[in-house]
Amino acid sequence: MDWHVDEDIRVAEGLPASTFTDRAFLDRELETMFRTSWLVVPERGDDPRPLDEQVAARGSRVPITMLHRPLYLQRGWDDDKLRAFPNTCTHAWYPLVLGASRGPTLVCAQHGRRFDCEGKFISQQGFGSAPNFPRPCDSLQSLPVETWRRLAWINLDPAAAPLGEALREVDASLAKMPAMPERMSAEIRDVAGNWKQHSWNFLDQFHIGFVHRAPGGLADAIDLATYQTELHGNAVLQWVYARDAADGFDPAWLPERFHDPKGRRVFALWWFIFPNVALNFYPWGLSVNVYQPIADRPDATRFVWYQFALDREKHAERDRRWLSSQVDAEDVDALAQVSRGLRSGFAPRGRFAPEHEQASHWFHRAIAHAVR
Ligand code: FES
Ligand SMILES: [Fe+2]
Repeated sequence: MDWHVDEDIRVAEGLPASTFTDRAFLDRELETMFRTSWLVVPERGDDPRPLDEQVAARGSRVPITMLHRPLYLQRGWDDDKLRAFPNTCTHAWYPLVLGASRGPTLVCAQHGRRFDCEGKFISQQGFGSAPNFPRPCDSLQSLPVETWRRLAWINLDPAAAPLGEALREVDASLAKMPAMPERMSAEIRDVAGNWKQHSWNFLDQFHIGFVHRAPGGLADAIDLATYQTELHGNAVLQWVYARDAADGFDPAWLPERFHDPKGRRVFALWWFIFPNVALNFYPWGLSVNVYQPIADRPDATRFVWYQFALDREKHAERDRRWLSSQVDAEDVDALAQVSRGLRSGFAPRGRFAPEHEQASHWFHRAIAHAVR
């Protein structure tokens, strides 16, 4: 399969349809970009509290699953640091953390191997006469984990650069914005379409005037002619002025470059972090979308969705003024339609409109590069 995407948008062909349907390609994605990128940790189904609250107390730990890999989060006992480890015993691979628990040591339930809160092997009976024991690999490998604005992020690459580097431009754009204290909802559902379709759709400015058309659509609520796309390394920012200034950000919350001498106000900052996180900042708060691949199911996506309120009154009006549910429903429908086309056997490689699809082109190129 050839999936090269030319750097010149005017001549580039997009990823072939097979990259959205092929299981081997999905495996490849999971073993490349999903092993080296910062990923938002999905919530655990059995506790409604945000993850950072669940592991707030010294020595507390919870099992989590990241792209089918069993892991656990552990708060330090001697320090306040949050750590992440594989939830797999180094002796004979039994899961170490079966449910939320707390304490200075962790004891494996299969043969009693003990670890401290830093993942270090402490002891196991029966090994007194074993030479060269314990080895470094009898301790647990620590994985980079960080919390950012109440979201836990993990990187499966132990040598990953800090999350702050991946989010540098995002942080700069938010420097004057108040913190989002309150999480209003957390939702997980499986939806149709390969995960890349969802990321691509998020980056696709071109469809707004059609799928979200006026009257009554997003194209009415925004001043589409002022739409901006900024490519920043592994992140993309899309933003636009609101048709009605009352629906825009207070300019005091945004850096100078978003200010408009004519008084127009920014409707939203739509940030995308490669490969699958969308951070949508609105005057009402933050909506986070994560498009998680599902192993062996290239035709479906686990859609993880969080909302944080900045202004409760405006949050209650988000469907009427910012069209949250409507845009979401229109996208879900469009993606299901595209999924059928992808599998039709009649889907040629597409081209990109150089005037409207810089972000889509950037995404296809980033994927082609990442799986090499
Ligand atoms: S598998 Fe954990 S002690 Fe044997
Ligand atoms: Fe859309």
